[in-house]
Amino acid sequence: MASETSARYLRFAATEARGHSPSYERLAGGVADDPGLLSLVDQLPGERRQPNLLLAAVRFLNGPVGDDYAAFRAWTVTHWTRVRNTMLERRTQTNEPGRCAVLLPVLARLPQPLALIEVGASAGLCLYPDRYAYRYDGGAVFGEADSPVVLDCVTTGPVPLPERLPEVVWRAGVDLNPLDVSEPQDVHWLECLVWPEQHERLARLRNAVGVARTEPPTLVRGDLDATIRDLVAAAPAGATPVVLHSAVLAYLPPEKRASFAATMRDLACPWISNEAPGVLPAVDRRLPPLPEADGLLFTLALNERPLARTGPHGQSLEWLPTP
Ligand SMILES: C[S@@+](CC[C@H](N)C(=O)[O-])C[C@H]1O[C@@H](n2cnc3c(N)ncnc32)[C@H](O)[C@@H]1O
Repeated sequence: MASETSARYLRFAATEARGHSPSYERLAGGVADDPGLLSLVDQLPGERRQPNLLLAAVRFLNGPVGDDYAAFRAWTVTHWTRVRNTMLERRTQTNEPGRCAVLLPVLARLPQPLALIEVGASAGLCLYPDRYAYRYDGGAVFGEADSPVVLDCVTTGPVPLPERLPEVVWRAGVDLNPLDVSEPQDVHWLECLVWPEQHERLARLRNAVGVARTEPPTLVRGDLDATIRDLVAAAPAGATPVVLHSAVLAYLPPEKRASFAATMRDLACPWISNEAPGVLPAVDRRLPPLPEADGLLFTLALNERPLARTGPHGQSLEWLPTP
């Protein structure tokens, strides 16, 4: 019978990498069938055995992650101590500014100006919705004139597309391990987390890093539930404090998600979540029956009221019918 780690690599190859990264599909599939490499990966704690973390670590160290499994394998085994240390020191913290395209319609409808607070911020690239430009359904570009970041998003349903950008007067965030846009090794790590064939995402990331460098966010190191009250309290008077997060709560055990949700209900400020199904039960319970539910889509919600289903990188926005 296949080991748990082998099954994990096979699942990653077949369901996540397929259609998005031929090289990652091939390499993860190769690891799944390689008892020698699996035994090295199994020396790591369970949460550090992720395929994405191994592949990013090899890239970070300039190892070969192309078509040739044998070359990848030989290099990884030879440099295993460095690969292992990188996998222990770093985390999967993919920061996707494209998600601002699905957050924007909600942000634009809140009482302005806004004090944005992102939990699980990584490098904070989702804290700049007012510094990017947007192209919904291939139409006219809208948003910050001359922004180097233009976010494309395909919409379905009655999306309340904004007429103007939100006014952001304060941006702050928390992460267990905040990444620093002015630190070249952190930026290199962010780049290695973008899959090899995703050239557009890489260009977008680099441009968003350039935007953030001109006005770096205030990021604190810590746990989201332990710090959120202080962050909300620190928001400037006269601005609406808005807490947002995307692709974060899946990393928490269910009891910590429940505790954070209870904190947010108590804080009673606008709370925008953009997360995979299953991580916020109160959101899932309110979702209308969806005939062709796609397990890879996220649910965008405001204070646990579902608004839309979204592509995980912000590439699509399907507004839900109002109940
Ligand atoms: C996949 S990244 C998403 C980053 C960003 N929200 C985005 O959408 O691009 C998830 C981030 O959540 C952070 N994280 C996970 N658990 C956390 C916790 N308990 N408290 C704070 N941050 C956490 C991770 O360190 C990581 O940077």
